Amino acid sequence: MATTTSAPSVNITTVLHENRVFPPPKSFAKAAWIKSMAEYKKLYHESIRQPEKFWARQAKEELVWFKPWKSVLQWKLPQAKWFAGGQLNVCYNCLDRHLNTPTANKAALIWEGEPAGPGTPGEERTYTYKQLHREVCLFANVLKRNGVQKGDRVIIYLPMTPEAAMAMLACARIGAVHSVVFGGFSAQSVADRIFDSQAKVVITADGGFRRGSVVPLKKSVDDALALKDAAGNLLAKTIEKVIVLRRSNHEIHIQEGRDVWWHREVQNVEADCPAEKLESETPLFILYTSGSTGKPKGILHTTAGYLLQAKLTTKYVFDLRPEDVYWCTADVGWVTGHSYVVYGPLANGATSLMYEGAPNYPEPDRFWRIVAKYGVTILYTAPTAIRAFMKWGPQWPDKHDLSSLRLLGTVGEPINPEAWMWYREVIGHKRCPIVDTWWQTETGGIMITPLPGATPTKPGTATLPFFGVVPEVVDDQGHPVPKNSGGKLVLRRPWPGMLRGIWGDPARFVQTYWSEVPGCYFTGDGCRQDKDGYYWIVGRIDDVLNVAGHRIGTAEVESALVSHPNVAEAAVVGRSDDLKGQALVAFVTLKTGILASPGIREELRLHVAREIGPVAKPDDIRFAEMLPKTRSGKIMRRLLKQIAGGGEIKGDTTTLEDFSVLARLAAAEE
Ligand code: PRX
Repeated sequence: MATTTSAPSVNITTVLHENRVFPPPKSFAKAAWIKSMAEYKKLYHESIRQPEKFWARQAKEELVWFKPWKSVLQWKLPQAKWFAGGQLNVCYNCLDRHLNTPTANKAALIWEGEPAGPGTPGEERTYTYKQLHREVCLFANVLKRNGVQKGDRVIIYLPMTPEAAMAMLACARIGAVHSVVFGGFSAQSVADRIFDSQAKVVITADGGFRRGSVVPLKKSVDDALALKDAAGNLLAKTIEKVIVLRRSNHEIHIQEGRDVWWHREVQNVEADCPAEKLESETPLFILYTSGSTGKPKGILHTTAGYLLQAKLTTKYVFDLRPEDVYWCTADVGWVTGHSYVVYGPLANGATSLMYEGAPNYPEPDRFWRIVAKYGVTILYTAPTAIRAFMKWGPQWPDKHDLSSLRLLGTVGEPINPEAWMWYREVIGHKRCPIVDTWWQTETGGIMITPLPGATPTKPGTATLPFFGVVPEVVDDQGHPVPKNSGGKLVLRRPWPGMLRGIWGDPARFVQTYWSEVPGCYFTGDGCRQDKDGYYWIVGRIDDVLNVAGHRIGTAEVESALVSHPNVAEAAVVGRSDDLKGQALVAFVTLKTGILASPGIREELRLHVAREIGPVAKPDDIRFAEMLPKTRSGKIMRRLLKQIAGGGEIKGDTTTLEDFSVLARLAAAEE
């Protein structure tokens, strides 16, 4: 059975904002790719009525093929094959195709590293398309020299440096399957992902910089490679080589025969590396993401469909023009970094900016300093960052000239209308349209979004579907609900960038996405459609939380907590948080004889950080003598959610929450 969910209720504050409509600025609409609602509707209808014709045209116009496809779509739910019979290469489409054009000498990547302190600039590097092509070819040959072949899995565990993009593109060039692991994840998470993907090589760095300290990535890899499962087997025994980028000059351990330095390896290879001709459905990457049960699942994306989705959405949603300086602030460890820092912008020949550090280091004006310095025209960031900027105050953006900005975007979680308005006024000076883009790791690219030259926007809604996307809001039986009622968001039709599976687990793929509502893809999100047909995403309705734009499965945090020797049982729920959207609250029962104390609370938080990564650290840990359960023994999460959301945290952490009465009452009601 898929996750049990219930329809979300309608949020009154968003309803109040529904009547505030901001038409696209006139100046904008004049030059945009899609200039009016009529134009959007015409193309949208074509994409729904004649999807194969529509996608065939896009694939022909947007991508460079080595061999044309035989069929546009072969669809046998839940398996889709897009552009079967065709051959192409993602890296070729991102780099080589621009080489004999004026784009060759344009900046492909502009990178700024984290600065050492206030007033100091970060390290800077710019790569033109020609230069990036050369670096990627060199590194692709390094991969080959280290035994990587077509189909092999490669783990990329790097800081936000240009080398992260180069490593991804180099894998794509030779047909290896990359799996980027966010640098904030723990050794255990790295080991789990190596085990699941059976990867052959890890690419990492001696360290990355984050808020002035060094993140010891190589040390985590060393630890990961030494971790064993319960039966005593090494988790990462498939790893043959570790390629290490020198970034921080941090002292590290080098294991002869296994570990090699990136900068030394490139000296031993040629810069000539033709791009492999790959079938359309060749796996491109696996990206692990949290679900409502068990360990993170490896979402699989393939070559042609993913690339087309990434390229087309980047072009239309951000309305790219050749002169744009485009900045998506996501880390490449997340899907947004894949589609909208690397593949989408480069396939379009855009200039993509990458920044290594945090938005408030060394000072809270870091982003605005960068916008002014490079003349950023398009900024794509997360609501959680916007809420933090609001808290830090307008004096930080006001210190800088933000007049280069022409378009603002958000992604990752529902944006509250207040944050949307702040973004519009303080950052966009009421001049820039805002694209609130809804999508997921699984969708590969943006699914519901305004098109900036066409769609009137309203604060708090992702508005209307992108081409080829058929969303619907349904009840528990899968029937469409009337406008303005809450329901589950599903997608009715296959789309090119859709996930092709969960790596190594076809049954879970069917169960998670294709069983909740028969015949369509279940997103896990709750939603409401307003009178104009706009989609208002309410948030997750399964046991997945969205904490500061990061997806975290409650089951994962619970199993991390119970892996601590002092913990008997744990239940994790979300509560709303002004800054992070949602915060993690853990209810924990300790083993007999262990006393609750501030010390053990901190120890448990650190334990979760060690097991998963700092992003999953519970915000509150509340101790309980027992957890409220139904008579059949299920933890009553709904009750815990209410308690977590409503109750103040008791100052005295040694006080145990007594759920025994509540549990008895609830069980009696059953
Ligand atoms: O709940 C939705 C939320 O983020 C989830 C997907 O998370 P992830 O796979 O990590 O990808 C994040 C970046 C694409 C969704 O199920 N979400 C994402 N964008 C929005 C959103 N919720 C509301 N509005 C959005 N614009």
